[in-house]
Amino acid sequence: MAPLLLVLLLAAAVSPLPAPAHGWGVDGHLMICQIAQSRLSGAAAAAVKALLPRDAGGNLSSVCSWADNVRFRYHWSAPLHFIDTPDNLCGYSYDRDCKDNDGVKGRCVAGAINNYTSQLLTYGSSSSHSSSAQYNLTQALLFLSHFMGDIHQPLHVGFTSDRGGNTIDVHWYKRKTVLHHVWDASIIETAEDDYYDRGTAEFVDALTKNITGEWSEKVQGWEECSKNQTACPDIYASESITAACDWAYKNAKEDSTLGDAYFGSRLPVVSLRLAQGGVRLAATLNRIFGETKTA
Ligand SMILES: *[C@@H]1O[C@H](CO)[C@@H](O)[C@H](O)[C@H]1NC(C)=O
Ligand SMILES: *[C@@H]1O[C@H](CO)[C@@H](O)[C@H](O)[C@H]1NC(C)=O
Ligand SMILES: *[C@@H]1O[C@H](CO)[C@@H](O)[C@H](O)[C@H]1NC(C)=O
Ligand SMILES: *[C@@H]1O[C@H](CO)[C@@H](O)[C@H](O)[C@H]1NC(C)=O
Ligand SMILES: *[C@@H]1O[C@H](CO)[C@@H](O)[C@H](O)[C@H]1NC(C)=O
Ligand SMILES: [Zn+2]
Repeated sequence: MAPLLLVLLLAAAVSPLPAPAHGWGVDGHLMICQIAQSRLSGAAAAAVKALLPRDAGGNLSSVCSWADNVRFRYHWSAPLHFIDTPDNLCGYSYDRDCKDNDGVKGRCVAGAINNYTSQLLTYGSSSSHSSSAQYNLTQALLFLSHFMGDIHQPLHVGFTSDRGGNTIDVHWYKRKTVLHHVWDASIIETAEDDYYDRGTAEFVDALTKNITGEWSEKVQGWEECSKNQTACPDIYASESITAACDWAYKNAKEDSTLGDAYFGSRLPVVSLRLAQGGVRLAATLNRIFGETKTA
């Protein structure tokens, strides 16, 4: 058995384990950023283009999972992807809940959205000499675009003791996984397989159609922040923990098998959150960079 063991050890050393779930999977983030980029004002589109890394080819959705890829290299960024709220309370408060495991305030996805929004507000300011030296605004854009997605994933604002469903083992149809991953990726992947020709393109088209049709009267409300805020992550976090209780945790306990009934009733929730994430990322970038419209 020694050769087999060696092969297994080598395989383990070479291929990383399946990446743990850190927010919507690659497809969820891609769809949110694609929806957002199509809704940018002229000024925001120009700023985004100028800030994107050269190898992104002007395509925001190609870099919306960057924050997950650097999560281990930039260890300090790991707590910025989520919020832990008190078990079974089904509510969120920035002052109470936005902190990391060491209790440092503001270190959660809502604090990070505020942080990177205020960094990006220094873009192009005449006194930006010191600020542009202080911040890497390319990274600020990539973090903001990613975290605006994460905060719309209901289980990224979940209960503390189960780490947003990460410790709840379930079966997605026949496959073993955890509840958090079902919401990051499985529901989206099953929808792509069943309805959208196995890719994100048709899914994005369907969401875009509903943003301009079915949901059009609600879209302005999604975009709005209270008072004169540029970003309003607390609204999105509250919606997420409510959806987590009403939909994600409901009927999904340790060892549950989740299939057609769960999928059919939760896909509309996932679709709505992806659409809201995209619309709101665009609205936030438009507020940051100015509303000048093209043509
Ligand atoms: C942007 O990048 C994404 C992800 O790499 C890709 O799926 C999409 O086709 C690209 N869009 C354009 C217009 O190149
Ligand atoms: C704010 O951004 C800076 C630069 O990336 C980072 O060092 C800091 O940890 C961030 N804090 C939060 C709460 O996002
Ligand atoms: C800013 O961050 C990007 C992405 O990590 C990196 O490629 C670039 O070199 C950084 N810019 C500076 C001035 O450090
Ligand atoms: C779009 O809206 C229709 C009508 O409510 C609904 O049947 C469909 O599932 C929605 N599609 C998406 C992707 O949200
Ligand atoms: C919003 O900002 C405007 C202009 O700075 C100010 O006149 C107005 O009172 C502010 N409104 C609120 C609710 O803070
Ligand atoms: Zn994430």
